[in-house]
Amino acid sequence: EKAGYKHFMAKEIAEQPVVLADALRHYVQNGRINLPDVDFTGVDRVTLVACGTASYACHVAKYWFEQIAGLPADVDIASEFRYREPVLSPTSWAVFVSQSGETADTLAALRHAGDAVARTLAVVNVPTSSIAREADLALPILAGIEVGVASTKAFTCQLTVLALLALKAAHDRGRIDAAELGRRLDALATLPGLMNHALRLADDIRDLAGELAEAQDILFLGRGPMFPLALEGALKLKEISYIHAEGYASGELKHGPIALIDNRVPVIVMAPRDALFDKTVSNMQEVMARHGKVLLISDARGIEEAGAGCWRTLALPQVADFLAPILYAVPAQLLAYHTAIAKGTDVDQPRNLAKSVTVE
Ligand code: F6R
Repeated sequence: EKAGYKHFMAKEIAEQPVVLADALRHYVQNGRINLPDVDFTGVDRVTLVACGTASYACHVAKYWFEQIAGLPADVDIASEFRYREPVLSPTSWAVFVSQSGETADTLAALRHAGDAVARTLAVVNVPTSSIAREADLALPILAGIEVGVASTKAFTCQLTVLALLALKAAHDRGRIDAAELGRRLDALATLPGLMNHALRLADDIRDLAGELAEAQDILFLGRGPMFPLALEGALKLKEISYIHAEGYASGELKHGPIALIDNRVPVIVMAPRDALFDKTVSNMQEVMARHGKVLLISDARGIEEAGAGCWRTLALPQVADFLAPILYAVPAQLLAYHTAIAKGTDVDQPRNLAKSVTVE
């Protein structure tokens, strides 16, 4: 079943170009978004709710809904949402994201939102799941069965469906015209190919993973939509390698976490050469001034401009700015995988974790 791979996680990471292309074929037809039951006209807010990795996909989507569609978006962790008495409006939509579709807190949050919002949407991998059945509309992510406990291909497929929802919202609300929508969809269509390139970083990542495996603490930094990716990189690493890792918004560094930096702390900076690049690089230089071991993940131009003095660099292909979070997920997953292999942990069945968390 592992199709020649040593672990389900490795197989599922490698499958991403194919499953992403499947999802795109389903949701984009003849240059248009195929979401006939989705019209954001009159919707004035989206609330995104999930747990764990799926919540980081929601966090990225918040940037997309606000930046591309001009639509206010909130993100909540399901276990907080259900108890904090969120103020929901009848003109808003709530989106619940779950690979399994059975996560107890996310299901309870969906029931909690119930009739208080205009509509509930489920972005799920298992179309027969409770969350899919109970939401007003279920959108499958089409990732195929995910066996590894650490979510990989489900995350990038969740992001893809959420990106399409945000683009649909932008178009429905008149924020982007047909030509701009077409350009964005063309950019999405390049992702499977770009992901194939990203997968070729596996050898370089294996090379540096031995050293990462020695670390006690690892920080991940990113800005804008790369901030949730920093959170995801840290979660993936801690859950399968058991190394303590934290993700931070790069601008937050000097508000506390910089105190942790010394020459034993690897700092992984995820920074495509976008409008925020210079800001992130200046945070990275603050780390280097304190002898932190920086691994810069960027594109060739970013590395040429800022790679000097880094411990290591990894170059991804150039990608449309809004899609960087999907592409940069691949090296984050590979880093966790190869570090865990170097430590000898059980990658597919990490201790204390279950694939589907059906208790509160
Ligand atoms: C991390 C991971 C978990 C899940 C979370 C939600 O790799 O897999 O954080 O993302 O338990 O699960 P689903 O998406 O099934 O609701």
